[in-house]
Amino acid sequence: MTVTHQKLSKRFAAEVRGIDIAAGVSAEDFAEVERLFNQHSVLVFRDQDIDDDQQADFSRRFGALEKTVIINEGGGTEIAIIANVHPETDEIIPPDDHRMVFNSGNEMWHSDSSFKAVPATASLLSGREVPPTGADTEFASMRAAYADLPAETKQRIEGLVAEHSILYSRSLIAPDLFNEEEADEVPPVRQAVVRENPVNGRKNFYVGSHASHIEGMDIEEGRALIGELVEFATRPEYVFAHKWRPMDLVMWDNRCCMHRGRSWEKARYRRVMHRTTVAGIGPT
Ligand code: OGA
Ligand code: MN
Repeated sequence: MTVTHQKLSKRFAAEVRGIDIAAGVSAEDFAEVERLFNQHSVLVFRDQDIDDDQQADFSRRFGALEKTVIINEGGGTEIAIIANVHPETDEIIPPDDHRMVFNSGNEMWHSDSSFKAVPATASLLSGREVPPTGADTEFASMRAAYADLPAETKQRIEGLVAEHSILYSRSLIAPDLFNEEEADEVPPVRQAVVRENPVNGRKNFYVGSHASHIEGMDIEEGRALIGELVEFATRPEYVFAHKWRPMDLVMWDNRCCMHRGRSWEKARYRRVMHRTTVAGIGPT
């Protein structure tokens, strides 16, 4: 076996070496990647000069891919393009353009697709063009944080259900990002607050910007609890910040990690990221 790995922070995240996605990954090497994914939650692969088909083919080995929701630019494809350049003119989109405002929602701590009835297992983000400084992607391990929760908090959150909605999270940035028709496509969904990895049984809590409130609990009380959990998981000891180099591919476990994009000089530097998203296998 040629695959090796090196931990990137004390509690989670690892860089994987010996994988060349464009050249093809053997079944044996892939099994090791999958094992590392379940163990470390965030995997960094450097120098992966891949195109969209290669990215989608590799991603599909983890499971069926999600399609982007219609409101995204170029919607309804397996590749979500998160970029500050216009798809047709190739010019930088002004930071106050509605697409950029919508994408700035990624700067809040979140788990991808937690607003869908079956939320995503994994996301794979390929840095096609990255700015020279800024625009780190940060990850927070809700698994490491859960392990350190006081026993009474673990008891308090066991069995709770949170309501997640992208209308809620986007309303925090701007009130009018969705029209009525678009809003109808993304009704609120129910998510377990405590989840368990199906392979190793490790538990974590599951919150993020789309989590609006807790079922059966006063709205403000539930919101405060969600806020406490987000704040706890984003303490420095549970956070890993990835500094992008071109051709990095970073994959993360949405079941147990939150992430957020950090800002950069958006009017000055191009940033083009291509994302594939591995769908979950059932409701939480
Ligand atoms: C995403 C995301 C953050 C970033 O692709 O899901 O949240 O740094 N990206 O681009
Ligand atoms: Mn995201």
